Amino acid sequence: MRVRELEKDIFNRIKQNALFQFHVQRTIYYVIRLARHYHVDEEESIAGALLHDIDGIVVNTKNDFLMGQKIAKKILLSHGYSDKFIQKIQGVILTHSSGSVVKPRTKLEQIVANADALSHFEMLPLYFHVRGVKQLSFRDALKEVKIKLDRSEKKLTLYEARRIGRSLRRMTGKQFEHYDIFI
Ligand SMILES: [Fe+2]
Ligand SMILES: [Fe+2]
Repeated sequence: MRVRELEKDIFNRIKQNALFQFHVQRTIYYVIRLARHYHVDEEESIAGALLHDIDGIVVNTKNDFLMGQKIAKKILLSHGYSDKFIQKIQGVILTHSSGSVVKPRTKLEQIVANADALSHFEMLPLYFHVRGVKQLSFRDALKEVKIKLDRSEKKLTLYEARRIGRSLRRMTGKQFEHYDIFI
């Protein structure tokens, strides 16, 4: 499948970034589960997961949707994808984030936004690591991470994603249990 070449290309760009590599990998994992459940095209779903944060990967911005759409178009064209396919992925980029003004409209946009949010529940150690490098106190890091996960939970709009999210949240909840004393 052509998307495997795209996957190699994107992972090649992030081989020096453990955070992105893990995040994109887990987003792909959840998007495939949701694509199968909701009968969404798998190639579009995987491409959406691979490219949803592409601005951050290529130019180190965060949720610069216009930039992301521009970069995604260039990459997808180089892999021979059609304009129609590119437009769908650009829609994913525009709507995937909790900060997006335009909320997910299509099933494809919904499953990528939901898969993105699900992956956040598995990123606790990396989130703390990033904040540790920034020399945040443990208490502040904990507060930030909790806010982030609450936001991600609100992004779970699909029934199946909420079901998966509940068991992930139980896991992260356990990790937080003994820290409540710090807040
Ligand atoms: Fe994002
Ligand atoms: Fe993301």
